[in-house]
Amino acid sequence: MCGIIGYIGKRNAIPVLIHGLKRLEYRGYDSAGISFLKDSKIGVRRCSGKIKDLETLIKKEKLKSTIGIGHTRWATHGRPSEENAHPHRADGIVVVHNGIIENYFELREGLKKRGHVFTSETDTEVICHLILRYSKSGYSLEDATREALKHLEGAYAIGVMNEAEPDKILAVKKDSPLVVGIGDGEFFIASDIPAFLKYTRDAMILENGEMAIITRNGVTVHDVRKNETVNKKAIQITWSPAMAEKGGFRHFMLKEIFEQPRAISDTIRGRFSLEKGEVNLKEFSLTESQLKKFNKVFLVACGTSWHAALVGKYMIEDMVRIPCEVDIASEFRYRKPIIPEHCLMIVITQSGETADTLAAQREARRLGARVMTICNVVGSTSAREADGIFYTHSGPEIGVASTKAFTTQLTALYLFSIALAKAKGTRNLKERQGLLNELLQLPEKVEKALYCHDAVKRMAKKYYDVRDFLYLGRGINYPIALEGALKLKEISYIHAEGYPAGEMKHGPIALIDNNMPVLALAPDDTVLEKILSNMEEVKSRGGKLIAVTVEGNTKVNSRTPDIIFMPGTNYYLTPIIFSIPLHLLAYHMAVLRKCNVDQPRNLAKSVTVE
Ligand code: G6P
Repeated sequence: MCGIIGYIGKRNAIPVLIHGLKRLEYRGYDSAGISFLKDSKIGVRRCSGKIKDLETLIKKEKLKSTIGIGHTRWATHGRPSEENAHPHRADGIVVVHNGIIENYFELREGLKKRGHVFTSETDTEVICHLILRYSKSGYSLEDATREALKHLEGAYAIGVMNEAEPDKILAVKKDSPLVVGIGDGEFFIASDIPAFLKYTRDAMILENGEMAIITRNGVTVHDVRKNETVNKKAIQITWSPAMAEKGGFRHFMLKEIFEQPRAISDTIRGRFSLEKGEVNLKEFSLTESQLKKFNKVFLVACGTSWHAALVGKYMIEDMVRIPCEVDIASEFRYRKPIIPEHCLMIVITQSGETADTLAAQREARRLGARVMTICNVVGSTSAREADGIFYTHSGPEIGVASTKAFTTQLTALYLFSIALAKAKGTRNLKERQGLLNELLQLPEKVEKALYCHDAVKRMAKKYYDVRDFLYLGRGINYPIALEGALKLKEISYIHAEGYPAGEMKHGPIALIDNNMPVLALAPDDTVLEKILSNMEEVKSRGGKLIAVTVEGNTKVNSRTPDIIFMPGTNYYLTPIIFSIPLHLLAYHMAVLRKCNVDQPRNLAKSVTVE
C-alpha cells in the first residue's frame, strides 16, 4: 500500500504534491519522492523517511513547475531507501506505482538481457523500462503504456510522465485505487480523495482497466482492454476533509476492519500455485529440505500478535503434526527456554519493532533456532535480523488496536502451515489444493462476514454500559475469545475475560448473573455440542448470551435470540472470520462510550521499550 499524487494546471505543482502526499501519508511513510518538469527536463527528488524529510530536502531549491507526480511509499519489494523510493525513472519516463507486480523478476531479467540497466530493488522499475522500450519504437506515451501493461501481472495504480510529451500525465488502474480530481483548468490524480479535496470536490473514480490521459485541456478516459473511449462523468464528493482522510470512515480502526478483504488478497497474491498445491518458499529463505528437518516450532509474539501465535499452534499441530510451543515474548526471554536441534522459531509482529519480541528473537537465534518473522513492515528490525521473512501486505495500520494486521498474520500462518505440511508429507496434493482453494475464497467470505455490521451495532447498543464481559471459545477459536476480550478492554475500558469454554466451571461460572454478558463462539465443528452445553450453563444462571456461529446452524437458536451468523469456511480459517464481529463489537461499544478508539489511553502502537 502506497500513496500516489499527480498535478497538472496553472499553480506551482510542488506544494500541491507535498500537500497531497501529507494527506496520503497514512498509506505509507517509509520513503517519498516527487518528479516534475523544469526547463523541459524531468527532475526527480526522493528520500527515505517521511514527507517532512522530503520537504526539507527540496526546501532550499525553491522549485517551480506546473506539472508533477509524487509518491509516499510503504515498501513491498526492496527495503526503504532513496534508491527504492518512487518516482522511478528510465531515461525520460517517470513512474509512480501503488500495488505489486507479481512477475517483475522475470520481466526484469528479460529487460536486462536487452540492455536495460536497473538501479533499484523494486518491482516498479520494470514498468518504466517497459514503457521506455515501446516509446523508443515510436509509440505515444498512451500507446507505449498500453503495450507495457500487457506484460504486467498483479495489481497497480500508476502515474506516468514523459519528458518528450511535457503536458501530459497518464493514470492507469488495476486492483489498486486511483481517482482523478477535476478542477478549474487544473487536474489531479491520487490514490485517495483527501489528497486533492482542498482544491476540488469533483472527481472521477477510475475502474479496473481504465487509463486517464490528462492534459492541460482536460481528461480522456480509455478502457485499455477494450481499446475504446469511456464516457465518464465526474461525481461530487460530499465528505469533509477529515472524513475523507479515513476513506469516509469515522475512525482508522473501522476503516482497517473494512480493508480486510483487500489486505488478505494482497497477502496471498502470488504466493502459491493451486495447480501444484504448493506455497512459494522463495521469500522465506528456506528450502523444502530445510523445512522437512524441523521437528519443533516455537511461536513468539506480544499482544494481538500473540493471539495469532496461539492460533498458529492449532494450525501447525493439526496440519503438520509437529509440536509447537507458544510464548509471550517477555516470558520467553527470561524463562531459559530449551531449544532442541532442528528448531524453528516463528516470530509474529506487525511493527517488527516490539522490544520484547526482538529480544526473544535474538535469544532464540543465540540458542541455535532458525528464526522466521511474520511481519508487516518491510525493512523493520525484526525483518532485518531474521533468517527468513513472511511479509503480510496489510498496508500501514494506524489504529492502535490491531485488526487487519491480525487477520493477515493468521493468513500467513495458514500458508506457512501448508508449506510445512507439504515438506513433511502430512497433506497430499488433493488436500493441499482443497486448503488453497478455500483460501482463494477467503477475501469474498470476509467481505460477506462484514455484513454483520448492523447486527453487531444493535448488540453494542444493548450492552455498551456493562461493567464486565466474558468471551468463550474452544479449540482454535479459544485464542479468538482472548482477542475479543483484549479488544474490548483496550478500546472501551470494559473489564473483559476470554476463557476456554470448558474451563468455565472451574471459576468464571461464579461470576455469572443477570448483569454478565457472555459471548460464545460456536462454529459448526466437533466441539459444537460442548459449547452448546456451556451456553446452557450460562443461560440457566441468568447470564445474557450472544452467540457467533455459522450460517445454517440452527442449534444455537433455542439458547439465545442474539445470534451473529458468519459465512462458513474450513476449521483453520474460522478464526479469521470470527474475529470480525468481535473487533466490530469492541469498536462500537467504545464509540458509544465516547472513547478515543484510534488512540486508547496509556497504549502505544509500537512498544519499543521493555
Ligand atoms: C501493542 C499494540 C498491539 C500489538 C502489540 C504487538 O500492544 O497496541 O496492537 O498487537 O503491541 O505489536 P507488534 O507490532 O509486535 O505486533
